[in-house]
Amino acid sequence: MNGSLKRKKRVQPSMPSKRSKLHTSPESERDQDLMFEAEHGKCYQKAKQALHTAIPDNLQGREKETDAVKSFLTKHISCKHPGCLYISGAPGSGKTAVVAKTVDSFKNNKDCHIIYINCMSVRNSVAIYDNILSLLGNSKSSMTAKESRSRIEEYLTSSTLAVVLVLDEMDSLDSRNQDVLYTMFEWPALPNSSLILIGIANSLDLTDRTLPRLQTRPNFRPQILNFPPYSKDEMIEVITKRLSEIEGDSIFEAKAVQFCAAKVAAMAGDVRMALDICRRAVETVEAEVRHQRIAAPQGIASTNFHSTLLKRVGVQQIQQIVNEVYGSRMKTTGSCKDDPKLTIPVQQELAICTLLLMLRKGKNKEISLGKFHESYCQICPKHGIKIIDQSEFYSLCALIEANGLSH
Ligand SMILES: Nc1ncnc2c1ncn2[C@@H]1O[C@H](COP(=O)(O)OP(=O)(O)OP(=O)(O)O)[C@@H](O)[C@H]1O
Ligand SMILES: [Mg+2]
Repeated sequence: MNGSLKRKKRVQPSMPSKRSKLHTSPESERDQDLMFEAEHGKCYQKAKQALHTAIPDNLQGREKETDAVKSFLTKHISCKHPGCLYISGAPGSGKTAVVAKTVDSFKNNKDCHIIYINCMSVRNSVAIYDNILSLLGNSKSSMTAKESRSRIEEYLTSSTLAVVLVLDEMDSLDSRNQDVLYTMFEWPALPNSSLILIGIANSLDLTDRTLPRLQTRPNFRPQILNFPPYSKDEMIEVITKRLSEIEGDSIFEAKAVQFCAAKVAAMAGDVRMALDICRRAVETVEAEVRHQRIAAPQGIASTNFHSTLLKRVGVQQIQQIVNEVYGSRMKTTGSCKDDPKLTIPVQQELAICTLLLMLRKGKNKEISLGKFHESYCQICPKHGIKIIDQSEFYSLCALIEANGLSH
């Protein structure tokens, strides 16, 4: 019996050993590789998720701005005192995130009714009245803009609750119809008004430039809060905190995070852009690892794979993304032929060309960012250029604007 067992053992294929992978069977190697791949793939996946650009559960920094919004709301809600706060700041400076988190902390307050509207999603400027009415639970079909407006005014002047109205991306209404903007900014000053308005936009001077009439009447003048662009250190804090939420070793070299934050701080201080760059850098490393795995000769694939799997995001990958999307690997364009040194990155160039095409072809000169991105996505494949996602595209547009190439 013993002898047969021994013989059996000898003829059986050796069991996969974690210590000596070179002696394992191809099947078990593959199984292990798949296991490692799945495990480390998850690591990259988690990093990409942690670097999201949606409203986060926890904000880093921005205490001063959060306190200002909180005390404005507390003061006005507690004495049902109407008022208006105008928040300005560059893209990705945390305006939406801070306001959303702060307003959310009032959601159980029984003295107020909170409504949030992103003005970019509004069909046209007068349609905003319908949006507001329906969120107040007071809409009726087939009303004219004038009727909707007077219904809102009736509601605001008779409501027993304070109405907190947050109008995000307010500047998208700016070029369309100043009457609408005036009307809304003047609602808090209506007799018995219960409206607490928070307007959010990029332009520092929207209320002065577009609405000079507000300045001449002290009780219409909104309180102003400006969000400065994020500094390098603040962006490092945001990114590091996000990455620390993932268990295990960081897949980012500290230098890579610092490099990314420094680059973005020098360009725009847009933390959305910094998160996008980091996320894309993870994708790059992930693709490099996968490529090495496929390209490795059979038999040594698994041993190589172990070292490549642990690959971390370094300065090189960040630089690559910065160059591709935002930066300096530029090609000389026709428009810059007088000065060969003055060039535009390909992605920016493509965005500008898309915009020019849309302006030339379309009757409507007002183009929403959503439509703009849609057209850009159709044009990219024709030129063999990789499509960047919507949030990255917005950062790119902000950069084009900051460079003075469009407004
Ligand atoms: N302080 C922060 N802590 C953590 N994440 C942040 C912080 N500020 C911004 N972010 C991240 O960046 C994203 C973009 O920020 P946000 O939308 O608030 O910018 P914004 O100033 O409203 O930009 P825009 O003018 O383009 O609307 C947020 O959804 C969030 O994921
Ligand atoms: Mg915003």
